[in-house]
Amino acid sequence: MKILVTGGAGFIGSNFIHHILEGHPEDEVINLDALTYAGNLENLSIWKDDPRYRFVKGDIADASIVDPLIAEADAVVHFAAESHVDRSIMDPGIFLETNVRGTYVLLEAARKHGKRFHHVSTDEVFGALKPDDAPFDEKTPYDPRSPYSASKASSDHLVRAYHETYGLPITISNCSNNYGPYACPEKFIPLIITNISEKKRIPVYGDGKQVRDWLYVEDHCRAIDMIIRKGRIGETYCIGGDSERTNIWIVKKLLELLGRDESAIEYVKDRAGHDRRYAINYGKIEHELGWRPTVSLEEGLRKTVSWYQANEDWWKNMKSGAYQEYYAKQYGKK
Ligand SMILES: NC(=O)c1ccc[n+]([C@@H]2O[C@H](COP(=O)([O-])OP(=O)(O)OC[C@H]3O[C@@H](n4cnc5c(N)ncnc54)[C@H](O)[C@@H]3O)[C@@H](O)[C@H]2O)c1
Repeated sequence: MKILVTGGAGFIGSNFIHHILEGHPEDEVINLDALTYAGNLENLSIWKDDPRYRFVKGDIADASIVDPLIAEADAVVHFAAESHVDRSIMDPGIFLETNVRGTYVLLEAARKHGKRFHHVSTDEVFGALKPDDAPFDEKTPYDPRSPYSASKASSDHLVRAYHETYGLPITISNCSNNYGPYACPEKFIPLIITNISEKKRIPVYGDGKQVRDWLYVEDHCRAIDMIIRKGRIGETYCIGGDSERTNIWIVKKLLELLGRDESAIEYVKDRAGHDRRYAINYGKIEHELGWRPTVSLEEGLRKTVSWYQANEDWWKNMKSGAYQEYYAKQYGKK
């Protein structure tokens, strides 16, 4: 199978490309990525001379680039997005441009060429849970509350509409928070790990008691791989990690793993409209495709910490330049 991966130079996309090229010697990958601040080709340097891998720099919202690539692919796995909630609060426009219009441009080309389309989405489209609410599942009504989740919800609806209206062979996955190698250090877990390593303060929003369900990225990639090969066309699959924890639990665990005390923790003003809790019931994908998470949170955090310790140059590079400006705006200059 020749797979067009969009956003393959980002966190989950690059993990997915490793997963496919390592696990499926018969597959080929075209990676279409605009290389925004979140994209980094170093993530995939081991494949750069492999004939099964090709990189194309370009914007998913540019039909002239997208059309011929989709024409030659067997399937599209669509990761490319503006993905950071805090940035969406600062500047929503680019989220609509990439996440909504970019998805539309891809869908139009997939429709024209009749190609299989998998859309990678988030559990954030479902809104926030109260402590005793049942976890999200495929029947949970959409209730996005940030510009990021609203843009992802819009793109999910568009993808579903292309299936209902034009019969496009689609699937959608809504996954909980991922962590692991190659995550940009603006995201929660790598921000904490790298700030601890740099002996900087650890900013924690509000009371730190927001609950997230964490999934090791390799488990997510395996789920998508199963969906594109065995998933039922037109269906949505919720993917979760069985690992609900408060943010402050994660911070304290990372401090313990890195051998630091808690004095660096600094509670900062909460994110506007911060969702209190996410949790996922992944019974459908477990029942239909036999998927379940395999990496425990404790093991995944240990692996992640080791990866960031071994790849200091990578994250220092990601934290240079425009990142500094973003960080100062978000957390102040300290
Ligand atoms: N990170 C998570 O915890 C999580 C959880 C569930 C779902 N998702 C979804 O998974 C996908 C990937 O998330 P991520 O965390 O890897 O994101 P990321 O920000 O690390 O990577 C996004 C990639 O998309 C590329 N990109 C951005 N705009 C583009 C454009 N206009 N054209 C082409 N490429 C463009 C970037 O250069 C980058 O390489 C997103 O769709 C996101 O909504 C993420």
